[in-house]
Amino acid sequence: MLLIHFSYLLLLGEATTSSASATPTLAPFSYGQEPVRGVNLGGWFVLEPWITPSIFESLNDSNIVDEYTLGQNIAPDVALPILQNHWATWITEDDFKAIAAAGLNHVRMQIGYWSVPITSTDTNYSTSTEPYIPGAWPYLLQGLTWAKQNGLHVILDLHGAPGSQNGYDNSGQRTSNPAWGSNSENVPRTLDIIKFIAEKLGGMIDILELLNEPVGFETSIGDVIGNYWKQGYQVVRQSAGTQLKVMIMDAFLGVDSWEDFLTYPSAQGVLMDTHEYQIFNYDQLELSQPEHITYSCQVMTNLSSFANSNIYTIIGEWTTAPTDCAQWLNGRGVGARWDGTWQSGQPTFGSCDGMTGNMSTFSDDYKTFLRQYYEAQVAIGEAIQGWVYWTWKAENADDWSYQRGLAGGWIPQNPSDRMYPDIC
Ligand SMILES: *[C@@H]1O[C@H](CO)[C@@H](O)[C@H](O)[C@H]1NC(C)=O
Ligand SMILES: *[C@@H]1O[C@H](CO)[C@@H](O)[C@H](O)[C@H]1NC(C)=O
Ligand SMILES: *[C@@H]1O[C@H](CO)[C@@H](O)[C@H](O)[C@H]1NC(C)=O
Ligand SMILES: *[C@@H]1O[C@H](CO)[C@@H](O)[C@H](O)[C@H]1NC(C)=O
Repeated sequence: MLLIHFSYLLLLGEATTSSASATPTLAPFSYGQEPVRGVNLGGWFVLEPWITPSIFESLNDSNIVDEYTLGQNIAPDVALPILQNHWATWITEDDFKAIAAAGLNHVRMQIGYWSVPITSTDTNYSTSTEPYIPGAWPYLLQGLTWAKQNGLHVILDLHGAPGSQNGYDNSGQRTSNPAWGSNSENVPRTLDIIKFIAEKLGGMIDILELLNEPVGFETSIGDVIGNYWKQGYQVVRQSAGTQLKVMIMDAFLGVDSWEDFLTYPSAQGVLMDTHEYQIFNYDQLELSQPEHITYSCQVMTNLSSFANSNIYTIIGEWTTAPTDCAQWLNGRGVGARWDGTWQSGQPTFGSCDGMTGNMSTFSDDYKTFLRQYYEAQVAIGEAIQGWVYWTWKAENADDWSYQRGLAGGWIPQNPSDRMYPDIC
């Protein structure tokens, strides 16, 4: 009797599990009514040396500074198993469960163009991804299923475009000459890649972000980005209907450069992404801890004003880290502005000891500030349509890790909890 009962439950369990994994469903998210609260799954499908230095160190070649040079310098039959092991282990189903348990409702996932399996039936432009090593797509699909099964909505973000849209290692290629906008084939090719993603994944994601961090301040990219947003919007609407949201970025020009752009009724379902870092230039690094809080509260006022009169706006990346000290944050082999190891003849602000790495080196005062800085920046996001923290995990930079912040107590288990409710 017991045995029969047990196997009946087992069957029921299997049936439930298999139907859930075939077609997990999740009610659409009420953007504008509920705040987006999320984390980025940084360094998963687009490697960044500072997020996973161990992979780069294991390759025994300091010329490998990004995924592009990895593909150039390591034979594919050696590189592919290394990457596959990373894709299968860096983020697992347990991470999705932990993210949901931390009260978050979104993940923002990165993909490089070289991982999108587009063929010559999908585009009249090149399908070559050399020297990149493709193969991440099935792992992305698995991640999308885990997200849904755990009640998490997805922003899928094209993080690396052909030619590189910013020259940062996080676009796949670190280069002083990002060529996305200067080669006439790159933009239409990227639109074909967006079409493919919208067709294949439109029903599995909530927001498709057309491109991460194009450097609008470079002429060749500034000249094409507005048209790319408009054409990308049309491509998504034609391929995936009206349910899928489309995300654009301020392209480092400030949201105020995008007044009346893709607003209703000329477009619908478009959101603005802006990234809020206070650590990549000297003017901001010199701010004292209380000044960082005041600055955050000013950002809140400015972004609210834009969001109220234009389109829903989300801070798609931000961090509690108040310095650029994390090892290789500015690129493999590159130092930090904070302690003067980046460039000589510049101001320095202090030692990097106790600012990054293992939180066992963090003072109580520092952790108190990290909590205040977390709450001030969450306040910005919640004054608009939401926020997505960068990033869930980093091997050796606890100041950047949401997961380690939860463990260390400077990030609350429930993101609505406030120790400093009047911080702004
Ligand atoms: C790097 O060097 C170590 C130690 O010699 C070796 O075990 C490992 O296979 C090398 N890695 C690669 C990718 O060649
Ligand atoms: C390729 O070009 C031809 C001729 O202009 C056009 O009919 C076709 O739709 C294009 N295919 C794709 C996938 O863009
Ligand atoms: C907010 O907007 C004002 C007016 O445009 C500008 O002067 C100020 O620098 C902005 N502050 C921040 C923190 O973005
Ligand atoms: C951080 O430091 C503690 C205490 O020294 C140590 O037990 C732990 O293994 C370290 N964690 C990592 C990820 O290195």
